[in-house]
Formats: sequence, C-alpha cells, structure tokens
Amino acid sequence: MKKFFLLIVIVLFSINVFSQINIIPKPTSIIEKEGVFIVGNNVIINVIADDPALVEMVNPLLLTLSEKKADGVFKTKFNSTSKLNNIVFQLDKKLTDLGDEGYQLSVTPKNIHISAYKKAGLFYALQSLLQIIHLETKTSKDIKIPCVEITDIPKFQWRGMLLDCGRHFMDKAFVKRYIDLLAYYKMNRLHWHLTEDQGWRIEIKKYPKLTEVGAWRTEADGSRYGGFYTQDDIREIVAYANERFVTVVPEIEMPGHSVAAIASYPYLSCTGNPINVETQWGVFKDIYCAGNDSTFTFLKDVLTEVMGLFPSKYIHIGGDEAPKFRWEQCPKCQTRMRVQNLKGEHKLQTWFIEQIDAFLELNGRKLIGWDEILEGGLSKGATVQSWRGMEGAIEAARSGHDAIVSPTSHAYFDYEISNINLEKVYHFDPVPKELTKEESTHILGGECNLWSERAPQEKVDERMFPRLLAMSEVLWNYPEKRDYVAFRKRVQLQYPVLNRRGVTYGFERDPLILNAITDIKKRTISIQLEKGQEGTNIYYTLNGSKPDRKSILYTQPFEVRDSLKLNIAVLADGSENGFYYERVFKMNKTTGYSPVFMFPYSNNYPGSGNTSLTNGVFGTYNFRDGNWQGFEGNDMIATINFEEIKEFTKVSTGFLQSTPSWIFFPTECDFLISEDGLNFVSIGKRNATESQKNTELQIRRYEINSTSTIKAKYIRIAAKNVGVCPDWHPGAGGKTWIFADEIILE
Ligand code: ACM
Ligand code: ZN
Repeated sequence: MKKFFLLIVIVLFSINVFSQINIIPKPTSIIEKEGVFIVGNNVIINVIADDPALVEMVNPLLLTLSEKKADGVFKTKFNSTSKLNNIVFQLDKKLTDLGDEGYQLSVTPKNIHISAYKKAGLFYALQSLLQIIHLETKTSKDIKIPCVEITDIPKFQWRGMLLDCGRHFMDKAFVKRYIDLLAYYKMNRLHWHLTEDQGWRIEIKKYPKLTEVGAWRTEADGSRYGGFYTQDDIREIVAYANERFVTVVPEIEMPGHSVAAIASYPYLSCTGNPINVETQWGVFKDIYCAGNDSTFTFLKDVLTEVMGLFPSKYIHIGGDEAPKFRWEQCPKCQTRMRVQNLKGEHKLQTWFIEQIDAFLELNGRKLIGWDEILEGGLSKGATVQSWRGMEGAIEAARSGHDAIVSPTSHAYFDYEISNINLEKVYHFDPVPKELTKEESTHILGGECNLWSERAPQEKVDERMFPRLLAMSEVLWNYPEKRDYVAFRKRVQLQYPVLNRRGVTYGFERDPLILNAITDIKKRTISIQLEKGQEGTNIYYTLNGSKPDRKSILYTQPFEVRDSLKLNIAVLADGSENGFYYERVFKMNKTTGYSPVFMFPYSNNYPGSGNTSLTNGVFGTYNFRDGNWQGFEGNDMIATINFEEIKEFTKVSTGFLQSTPSWIFFPTECDFLISEDGLNFVSIGKRNATESQKNTELQIRRYEINSTSTIKAKYIRIAAKNVGVCPDWHPGAGGKTWIFADEIILE
C-alpha cells in the first residue's frame, strides 16, 4: 500500500512538476526524460534526406535560434556525418508506421534527432520543436530543450479551417498569415470560400465580368466594396501553402449563393433578369438555372480554370442553402425535371450536383458539398461536409461516403463566444457516437468555419483564437479523456506566443455569465453573475444608467422579488475595454412554471430550455442572447398548467422580428384559457401590424388587457407562424421562424 502510494506521488509529481512539453496540439505520446540539450553556439542542423530542397524547410529554426541566441552561429548541413551537437532531421523510408504526417522527436543531452517517413512529418516535428523553443520563457543565455521522446501521429487526416473571403475580401498577406498560423498548429486544410452572393473573388480568364462586376458591391451608403485574387495571387498562395503542408481547397458555390455570378452574367439565372451583387447577409432566391445548358458550360469552364490553379484532389462546390423557389417557377428547370424524370426540385439539385461530380471525376478530382447535397440523394463520388449538426456525416458514413464535420454547435467560429466557448470546442467529438467503428473510418476530420458576415479581416483573429487551439488539439490529438483544466493551462502559455505573432485573440468564454435561478415557493429570482475572464470586474446599476467603476461592484448573488432592470458592465483592469449588458427581470404569475409545447422549439435556438419563456428574464436585441426561443416553420403553441386557479387581468408574450434572418412576428397570437386542459376558450387575439419589409430588428409584446378579472387553471399562447418566406423575400420559400420570450401574467 505504501509503495503504491509512493508510486502515485511520483506519477503525480512527474505529471505536474516535470511536465515541460506544453505544446498545442499535444503530441500523442510524450515520455519526458531527465536532462536537457543545450543549444550550443556551433550547433549544426543536419538534414538527412534524398531531397536537398528540405534544407530550406528548416530555415525557421535557424531564424528562431538566431533570434534567441545572438552570439550563436548556426548552420544547416545536408547529409552531414557529424555525430555530436546535431539537430538532425532525417527522412526514413522504414518508418512507415508514422504515416504521412507522423514523426519522432528524440532529445538527449547530446543530440536532437527527428525522424519521419514523409516530409510532412519532418515539418510537423519542426513545428513542435519551434513551439517548445517559443514556449521557453526562462531567461538564460542558453537555449535549453528538455530531454524527451515524442512519437506524434495525427488522429485525423483532415484538419481544416474555412475562411470566407466572399462576404469580406481579405488581402493576400492576411491569407498567407493564416496559412502560417494553421501550419504552426498542425492544421492542414485551408478551405477557401471564394464565391458568394456578396462577391466573386477569383479571377476567371474566360469570364472577366466575374471580377469586373461580381467582385464589387455598392453598399447602402453608396460606397464600393470588393476585391479579388488574380490567378497569379492564387498560384502564389497555393505555393506558399504547399510549402507549409497546407492544402488549399477552393469552394465555388453552386447552385445557391451565386448572386455575384448572376449579377455578372444574368443568363445564368432562371429569370435572366439583371440583379446587383448582394449587400445584405442571408440566403437569396436567385440561383443558377438548372434547366439551362449554358449554366453547366459556364460552371465547367470555371472549374477547369479552378483545377488548373488548385492541385487539391478535392474541390468544394457548396450546395448549401439553395432555395428552390426559382426552379419551381422556371419553365426550363421544369422541362429538365420532366425530361430527366426527376420528382421534385430536390432531385433536380441532386441531378445538378451529379453533373458536376461526373465532371470533376473525369478530371481526376473529388467533390465535396455541404450536407444539403444529401437531400435528393447523394451523388456517387461526393464527400459530405456536415454543418447542420452531425446528421449529414452520419447519413453519409452509413451510405459509404466520406464526411468532414463542422457542425454549427462546435465549429462555427464566427458565432459569439457566448454560444461556442473554448471549453465547448475542446469537448468537440468529430466522430458521431451513432457510427460503428467501420462507419467512423469515413470521418476524414473536421473544420472550424469562419464565415465573415460579421468578421471582416480585422475581426478574424478574435474569432479564431483561442478557439483554433482547441480545434487543433481535438483534430490532431483526439484526446480520449478530455482534461480541460490542463488544456487551458497550456492555452495560457500560448498567449505570449500569439502576442509575438501579432494575433489579436479574443476571449475564452463570455465575459459575463449570468444565471437567473427562479424559486417558485419563495417567489424570487436569484441573480448570479460570474466573470468569464480573469482581470475583469463586474459593476452594475439598478436605475438604468450606464455602469462604470463607481457603480455597485458585484460580489455576491442578489434576489429579484418584483421587477428589475439591470445594467451590467464587465470592465477589464487597467483598460478602457468594457462589455455592457442590459437585462430585464420580472417575477409574475407564470414564473417558474414549465410550458408544454405543441411543436418543439429548435435545438439551435432553445433559449434557456423548457422554462425559457417563464424564467422571468426578457430577451434583448441580440437574438442569440440565450433568452429567445426559436420555432422553425411551426406555430408556437405553449400551454401552462398552473394546477390551481390563477386570477389575472393582463397577459402578454414577447416576439422578435428580424426578417433578413427569416424571423417574423407571428401573423396572429391567440390567448386561450381552460379549466380542464381540454377545452380552451379564447380571451383575445392580436395580429402582426408591422411591415415585414422593414429589415430592422424589432421586439413587440402581444398583450391582452381585461377590465374584469380572468380566472384560469390553464393558459395557452398560440402564435401563428408565417410558414415560409414570402415571394418578395430573398429567402422565398424557406421556413420562417418565430422567436418568443417571456409569457407574463399579471
Ligand atoms: C453554411 O453554413 N451555410 C454551410
Ligand atoms: Zn431555371
């Protein structure tokens, strides 16, 4: 027993105290040894391989050593026989077990020896070694590298990031910078989203208007916005990425998200009418006409030039969010469906994708599409990128197709940190539990997606970091047991590294975590505030004024007994940076009861769950604030059983409208009461009066006021959904949403 105890102490001690390899992603096997390798003044970087070009690859190490150690004279040699004081990079054809990207890194007091089966493995070993040196913070004249045996093989072959340069153009230097950052964290795919409704970004020689017209939009204030990459720019970026073992996978969107292309060449659409490059964000009904042969001539010409520029085996063709409204009305599309015997527009989309799939296959390439390409049946050679949850990946894998996962729940880094925080990303599992071992071999890996509607170039860093570190760890190391506390400690060590690289990273989680806990018996709401970031303080006011450092400093939870308007500021120490919040609370006769819903609320917009409409917290002008509950396509019908008679004169429910986001006020909201939960009678209805064409975000409470007291054991709120986006709407035919918040009974 004593021995056992001693063993535990030694193990714990060695994990906590001697852990000196703190790199991200964590290597798959680390055996730490005693001692250090001291980088002397005349250390030789020795590249042992059959390709002298590999000598170039280790230049960053030369640079790093020279920066760290001004008195050193470092040299790279090729196939030197020197036995001591070497940093050896060796390609070894026998080490097949390491695969294409794995490596071994052995540090002894005499040498550093790196070996790999393939060049990419040597490259990743180099990244590990660089990071070990960059993380070294102790000031010493010498660079000391702890002795260690590392064997490191990535779990997933596809470790990607999507960069949307369609919504916002990002300059060439910026794209290269991201390739550097990806490579440093051992990510190997840049999924480059190059065409969008709001801009076409890739020069196509045969269709010059794509960049003369399609790359530019006229904003509401009359200003012109845009940009594109010339074919030379693209060759330069692809070559740069190639040197860093990053494959650039181009995405050319079809049939949807193609407004910029149609604005350039209107014959590509069903109507042929001239349209402008989009300036709004959303999903738009003008898509490529599937009945028009010239659409396919165009797309094949474009893809031919794309394949000439991008050596990637995979070409992403989008396939997401293509409203079928135009196709339903288009004689050419309808003829195509008749001639090809296609039942319904989803089948027409499958047929569309099949044409492109066959063309890519003919050219030795493979097609990737977003999970919508499953809807009318999956094209033969397609790989699916699952974004609306993991279901697309499950369906693809079960039918023998490969899949890449980037679900909105964990991988949408354009989302606020309050929706997807660092811990959540760290706990992401790219392999759906539903799959058998055999099926799960179809999961190639994952991506984090940076859509750029709300993230122009200067905001990308704060969205990507530190979350990218978690994605890198998951995709490379795929830790079986997730230890967030330990991971987070390693993340802290990365901040100085990121600072030196000029990365303006964001937060790890929401600056403010607000919990409102309702106690029905005491009839109170307890408000607990927690700061999400160290080095900040929470201040609040109760009189509606903007909080500052002179306001009440939050130290402990407090209770709401009636109603309260809370203005909160999270202020960073020694900085003017602040995050401001406003929340309204109201205790009332529904507070704490659980409504029953006729149609379930959406998993994507659950609010705070079952009691979101009765927790006493009002929604704000941010519809992702966690208080709004969303109902997609269906009515919102909520029934509360009080299990006793309640008396009231006023009942109301809040709704939000933001029609560009497909969220509409209910056309009608009926307030009903019942004694038995079976027979309901209406006590009044309210209708939408606001214009749906007003694109502003609006909040309105639908309210019934009675001059006499109403008595009821049950109350039901029945709000009618518009159903589908109307014909004039850019998303015509798409399911509309109802967003609801507090049901108040007084
Ligand atoms: C997507 O987010 N529409 C793929
Ligand atoms: Zn058509």
